[in-house]
Amino acid sequence: MIEKKFGIIGKPLSHSLSPTLHNFWFKKKKIFANYSLLEIELNDIEKIITKIKNKELQGINVTVPYKQAVIPFLDLIINDAKETLSVNTVSLNEEGKVVGNNTDVYGLEHGFINKLNNQNLKQNKVLILGAGGVTPSVIYALIKKGIKKIFIGNRTLKKTEDLKKRFPFIEIVEWDSVEVEAENMDIIINATSLGLKGGNDFKQEFRITKPNLIYYDIVYNPEETMMIKRFKKRNIQTFNGLEMFVYQGQKSFSLWNNVNPKVDEELRRAIISKLK
Ligand code: ATR
Repeated sequence: MIEKKFGIIGKPLSHSLSPTLHNFWFKKKKIFANYSLLEIELNDIEKIITKIKNKELQGINVTVPYKQAVIPFLDLIINDAKETLSVNTVSLNEEGKVVGNNTDVYGLEHGFINKLNNQNLKQNKVLILGAGGVTPSVIYALIKKGIKKIFIGNRTLKKTEDLKKRFPFIEIVEWDSVEVEAENMDIIINATSLGLKGGNDFKQEFRITKPNLIYYDIVYNPEETMMIKRFKKRNIQTFNGLEMFVYQGQKSFSLWNNVNPKVDEELRRAIISKLK
């Protein structure tokens, strides 16, 4: 029997827990396969896609900074990848075409948005912090839920302006004003890399907010960012990005293997133990 090969492309990748996630499920499902880190340069994307075409690789995930850069090398993009122009899952279809999909939107829906039961959700004001690779998926997941009052603040203004060309209804907030704007928000989503273990953190304190604010952090390493700790102290409902990570992986796995792996406590423990 030949071992199937999967992996994740991006740079840097040393912190990725995708191998832990997928290799856990391969073992559970008794699939003879291995998932590895493929830290590559931009110039190597074409080579990797050729390997998928030649069936040397059965599928890849794509992460920062290649979610958009991979698109010109694919034969087609489908579903949420088309809406977001952001690809995180690549596979070969039955006609031998290399297809790009996006499972981040699914991850956000199942890991966060579908868990919200606040009243008048559709009228909620949402502030997204950050305009990097994951932000189009956040915007699209919110739109699918009928949430339209979306505000975006990013250190580099130009990136918010580029997003507005694709999503004209979003409102741009200047980075210097995010703390003031935050006072009127129902949901705040951190889609920056701020708070990541070993990295920079927010200078803003967000001390004044609505009492029933919901704070969502895409970051899951550490499990509790400084922002989550601060909001928890004020009894504000918080979520970290672990569930999104697990659910985007679940959908990628099922696209590649035609089986839906289980998300359970054993899996969560396996992931969390790697964070320590
Ligand atoms: P990319 O921007 O290459 O897609 P990313 O990890 O997807 O990378 O996104 C990083 C996000 O975190 C960006 O929104 C980035 O802001 P800039 O667009 O201004 O770079 C944000 N970010 C990273 N470090 C930051 C910092 N020290 N202060 C504010 N925002 C920061």
